[in-house]
Amino acid sequence: MRIVLLGAPGAGKGTQAKKLIEKYKIPQISTGDLLRAAVAQGTPLGKEAKSYMDKGELVPDKVVLGMVEERLKQPDCQKGFILDGFPRNTAQADALDKMLVSINMPLELALSIDVPFGDLMKRLTGRRTCKSCGQMYNIYFSPSGKEGACDKCSGELYQRDDDKEATIEKRLKVYESQTAPLIDYYGKKGILVRVPGTGSIDDIFGKVTAALGKVA
Ligand code: AP5
Ligand code: MG
Repeated sequence: MRIVLLGAPGAGKGTQAKKLIEKYKIPQISTGDLLRAAVAQGTPLGKEAKSYMDKGELVPDKVVLGMVEERLKQPDCQKGFILDGFPRNTAQADALDKMLVSINMPLELALSIDVPFGDLMKRLTGRRTCKSCGQMYNIYFSPSGKEGACDKCSGELYQRDDDKEATIEKRLKVYESQTAPLIDYYGKKGILVRVPGTGSIDDIFGKVTAALGKVA
């Protein structure tokens, strides 16, 4: 199964991807997670990326494309993959298309998780993530049992640097102008499915897996 998850910041791409990994045993490739790991390690790529991420802007295409190409070459991607947060604009989508066609693994589905813009701010300001295992929580909607600690591994929970109101507003604008056009892009290719991203995480997952049932 080779899929792209589309959706605004806070739509639940990462949340649904984590459940898909468990069910289908295929890796999630989140460019945001890869970039945050590079930032945490203080690599030159991470330092360059951080200046864009802190402003809520997209990191230059060439940086992200190189990272994705490397990741797709790993053996675990042979069985399939879930791209999360990539592609982010039509130039990245065109480049991905070429990459996948050249390795004879074309994309099968683009799944858009649709959430009204008004719901996203609270999801993002309330998000907390485990430093150790990456599990996501939300202080308003799905808090951990013990404040500041992960239910799964007891790791420390942190708030992302770009989950501040002003940065979130910029990210939402960037999504609207640069990423939302991909809905039409994949619609025209005939591989788009849209799923409402409101309601419980499990209900949404049911709709996601129903959509994926066609390609699984
Ligand atoms: P990235 O990490 O991709 O962030 P994003 O797209 O802004 O998306 P998020 O991770 O914020 O949201 P999500 O949809 O994963 O939601 P989540 O599941 O966590 O990118 C960050 C930055 O990196 C970019 O701004 C850019 O600078 C750079 N970057 C990344 N990729 C790039 C690329 N390809 N090109 C260039 N630059 C790139 O859920 C959010 C919260 O809501 C959580 O608290 C969760 O618990 C909660 N929640 C989930 N589902 C529900 C529900 N049904 N009801 C209530 N709450 C829910
Ligand atoms: Mg995410």
